[in-house]
Order: sequence, then C-alpha cells, then structure tokens
Amino acid sequence: TTMSVAQALAGRVPEGGQVTVRGWVRTRRDSKAGLSFVSVSDGSCFAPIQVVAPDTLPNYESEVKHLTTSCAVICTGTLVKSQGQGQSYEIQASGIEVTGWVEDPLTYPMQPKQHSLEYLREFAHLRPRTNLFGAVTRIRHCLSMAVHRFFHERQFYWISTPIITTSDAEGAGQMFRVSTLDVANLPRDGKGNVDFSRDFFGKETFLTVSGQLNVEAYCLALSKVYTFGPTFRAENSNTTRHLAEFWMIEPEIAFADLNDDANLAEEFLKYLFRAVLDERGDDLAFIAERVDKTAITRLESFINAPFERIDYSDAITLLQQSGKKFDFPVEWGLDLQTEHERWLTEEHVGRPVVVMNYPEQIKAFYMRLNDDGRTVAAMDVLAPGIGEIIGGSQREERLDILDARMGQFGLDPAHYDWYRDFRRYGTVPHAGFGLGFERLVVYVCGLANIRDAIAYPRAPGTAEF
Ligand code: 4AD
Ligand code: MG
Repeated sequence: TTMSVAQALAGRVPEGGQVTVRGWVRTRRDSKAGLSFVSVSDGSCFAPIQVVAPDTLPNYESEVKHLTTSCAVICTGTLVKSQGQGQSYEIQASGIEVTGWVEDPLTYPMQPKQHSLEYLREFAHLRPRTNLFGAVTRIRHCLSMAVHRFFHERQFYWISTPIITTSDAEGAGQMFRVSTLDVANLPRDGKGNVDFSRDFFGKETFLTVSGQLNVEAYCLALSKVYTFGPTFRAENSNTTRHLAEFWMIEPEIAFADLNDDANLAEEFLKYLFRAVLDERGDDLAFIAERVDKTAITRLESFINAPFERIDYSDAITLLQQSGKKFDFPVEWGLDLQTEHERWLTEEHVGRPVVVMNYPEQIKAFYMRLNDDGRTVAAMDVLAPGIGEIIGGSQREERLDILDARMGQFGLDPAHYDWYRDFRRYGTVPHAGFGLGFERLVVYVCGLANIRDAIAYPRAPGTAEF
C-alpha cells in the first residue's frame, strides 16, 4: 500500500504490514551493526518517518550508504511501532529505490543545517524543502481552508473579483499599470499601424488594489459575500510588513453597520486561530521551538480575549498622555503609525484593539461620514506584535454625500458611475473589511518579515522567480 508519511506515522498499518512511502531524504545515519537510518519526508506533515535499511538490501553499499539530503526515494517495507524516542512508527525497509540523486551534495544550497532567512530568500525555489517553510506552507493552507469554511458555514458566497481593472478602489493612486492610453509611444508594425496586441483594452488598465467595489455589487444582491484573491500595490513596499503583491480577504455584509463589521472581524480571526491550533499542532510546536516561544500561547490568549474598541479620538488622547517618545507626531487628524498602533495594542491594552471612527480626510472616499461631519465609520483591527491586520468600514450609502466625498478627493465621478448606481437603486447600509492574508500568516507563524509568509514575495528587488 502506497501512503503518505502522515498516514504511516498515524499507524495506518495495512493487512500484512507492507507499505510504500515516497519522498526526500532529510538525513542518513549509519550504525556499526550494519543498519542505516534514513529519515524521509514528503511534506504531508511536519515529521519525517524513519526508514531502517539493513545491509542485506542489494543496493545497500552501492546506493543507500551514499544517500544525502534531498535525494528522492521510494521506500518499501514493513510498518512497525518504533522503539525509538519521539516517533510512533517506522519502516523496516525491504527495498529503497533512488529516483533522483543530489549532484555534488557539498555545494547543494539547502544543507542540513539552519540557514538564515535572508539566505533562504535568495532560494525561493528551494526553501520549501526546509522545516520552516514546510511548516509555514501547511499553516497557510490551513488558514485558507478555514477562511472558506468560516464563510460557507455562515451562508456567505465567494465572489471572484477582477484582477485587471480601470477603477482605483482605494482612490490612493497606488496601481500598477497593465495597459496604457499613451498611443504615441506604443510599438508600430511595418506599415506604421499601432500594435495593440499587448494593450488590447484600448484604455488605461491596472492591477487591482482591492476587490471591494466589485464585491459590494454582489453584497447588494446576495447579502453576505466575500472575495479572497491577489491584490497589488505600487506603494513603498520596502518594509517588513508590505508586499507589492499580496492576498486579501474582503467580506461585505448588507444591512450592517460598523459594530456588526467589528463583530464579524473578531469572530473571524478567532475562528482562524482556533483552526490552526486544532489542525497544525505539529507545525506550531516547531515554530514555538525555533521561531517564537509564544507561538501557541499568543494564539490562545487572542482567542480568549474580547477585543477592545477605542475611538480614534480617544486613542489620540491616550497616546498623547502616554509620556512615550514617538518618532512620528501624534495629533488629531494624522494617521496612526505602526509605533502608535503597537503601543496601543501591546503596552496600553495588551489585547487586540479595534480603533474606530477616523478623521474623514485621512480615509478612503467610500467610507460613511459620521453625524459629527468630521469622522468616518472606519475601523482598523490592531494585533499585538504586528499592528494593523484588518482595515474596514461602513460604506457611504447616500449618493449625495458619496458624490461630495469623491469631489473632495479629486476623483472623477464618471469613473465610478457604476459604483454610484448602487446608491441609486435600492441602497442599504452595508459594511465590510479587508484582512491582509500574509499579515495573518506572519502573525500566526511569529515571522519577522512578510516576505517569508508567501511563496514568491514580490517587493522591490525580489522578482527573479
Ligand atoms: O486597509 P486596506 O488598504 O483596506 C482595503 O483595501 C479595503 N478595500 C478593505 C475593505 O474594506 N474591503 O487593506 C486591508 C488590509 C490591511 O489591513 C493589511 O492587513 C493588508 O490589507 N495590506 C497589505 N498587506 C501586505 N502588503 C501590503 N502592501 C498591504 N496593504 C494592505
Ligand atoms: Mg488600512
């Protein structure tokens, strides 16, 4: 019976006990007693399985004793309870077939030792073979599945929103251009005709910064919806918290206000962390040992703590009275910087914080203007150790105010005419938020740099893969 390492370690012993496991060698150790211990991993779980190879194997001297890290092998033998410490089952091999050798093991970039994360970033194509990236990859998968499960259980529908777009969903001018209107500079064929083959939209198009405006359309018909897809931002992404290409989860709910939105965000995050604790104990234990001692307790306390809700105006007062020296100024009307967010959530409250009702001039045009006329119904969820992880708002459902806000930000209403239609035909209060998926992975895995939370990070200077 061919099975995964995870199944073998779980003791799925078939009738007769004969199994085949396929994977890559982690390490090999030879004993004087004419045995070699080959640990084999196939990525199905954190642990490798130990394959005990006796010197009676026909290729023992010629092959088995030359196995090195990352050689690909197919191992057949008897699955038995292991006498060794810390491992449940092992395979007493009756055959080891080598399907791929590692040429020149001494110069192989992934040596069986702990490499620095900086070094591993230069090998985005080989780093999935390390313990850490195996663990991060499985946790990331667990989180993705939990995202869909959470929404599916609550009757949300998943909407695939476009990646190529003409409208700037955040109105912040941070879009990467796909096709240009600059016809004068387009290539021409031999007859002097403009070659539109690579600019086939015939208008200026960009990569999306957010699926929100598109998903609002579906919210205003299906009530509860979400997007989960890639988004792109041409902002200064040379930080440990920003990527030029990242994944975002954006739920949108109809007949809902900012409090409903904050409730959803809290329930959602707690659900996701619960899923990782329940399903990825093996990977979390490794992360707690190698990356961040608090990995497990941090998630547990996050789940058990009610989020604190603070008005932006009160947050400013708290920051001003903190007596703490910040690099950036703290003043009503200015946006909170990471250092301010971290002080609030880590030092002041010690729990996740939802900051609500920001000054209208520093937030996006689509956010609902509050009755005070100077704040909007916006929220940011701040997590200890990372700062902003979610940004959301109640949307401006009144057409006249939406138009005035667009005017104020210098946006062309003609560009957003389709979006204005929602306010003209059956408008309702509605709200939503965006969770940066890699920020979530960073938080769960205790990573210091967001470039280690995605397989192929896109940030200045990293696009060679
Ligand atoms: O706060 P943001 O810009 O909000 C929106 O895009 C709204 N349209 C969301 C909504 O209401 N539907 O981004 C949301 C989240 C941030 O809180 C952050 O976690 C993440 O997206 N994010 C980034 N993650 C990685 N790299 C970047 N450059 C990011 N920019 C935002
Ligand atoms: Mg934000």
